Amino acid sequence: MREQTFVMVKPDGVVKGLTDEIIARIKRAGLKIVSMRRLKMDRSTAEKIYAIHRGKEFFKRLVEHVLLGDVVVILVEGDNAIARMRELIGTTNPAKAAKGTIRGDFGTSITENVIHAADSAESAERELPLFFSDLVKFSA
Ligand code: CMP
Repeated sequence: MREQTFVMVKPDGVVKGLTDEIIARIKRAGLKIVSMRRLKMDRSTAEKIYAIHRGKEFFKRLVEHVLLGDVVVILVEGDNAIARMRELIGTTNPAKAAKGTIRGDFGTSITENVIHAADSAESAERELPLFFSDLVKFSA
């Protein structure tokens, strides 16, 4: 099924200069970069992206991390794009992520794990319009 998903290179990934490598991996996987831009996130948007984690002990750490520096937000489209992006990025904790995945290769901690990608269609539908409201199209 053709899907759109939300991907974000976090500040640790941007500072390490990983954006080009991440884009290359997404394209090699046959997925399409519909749009991307580099920006400084504001607190209110960061809290919206991570709303499902509000109340957890790591919520504040997570929000502070994405406010540390520029992020790169990306609208990715393709067949089964949501699940395939999750495969490409690897599991949340880089120490447990497989080599060959983005987090497995470049992540240093569960907070500094380089990249975020929506974990479900519901998350993608909530996260994409925060940055790409003009480009979002969801199939019924
Ligand atoms: P991300 O994919 O951006 O989505 C939620 C983030 O919460 C996740 O990456 C991690 O950076 C962070 N996270 C999830 N679980 C924990 C945890 N147990 N401790 C600290 N951070 C976490």
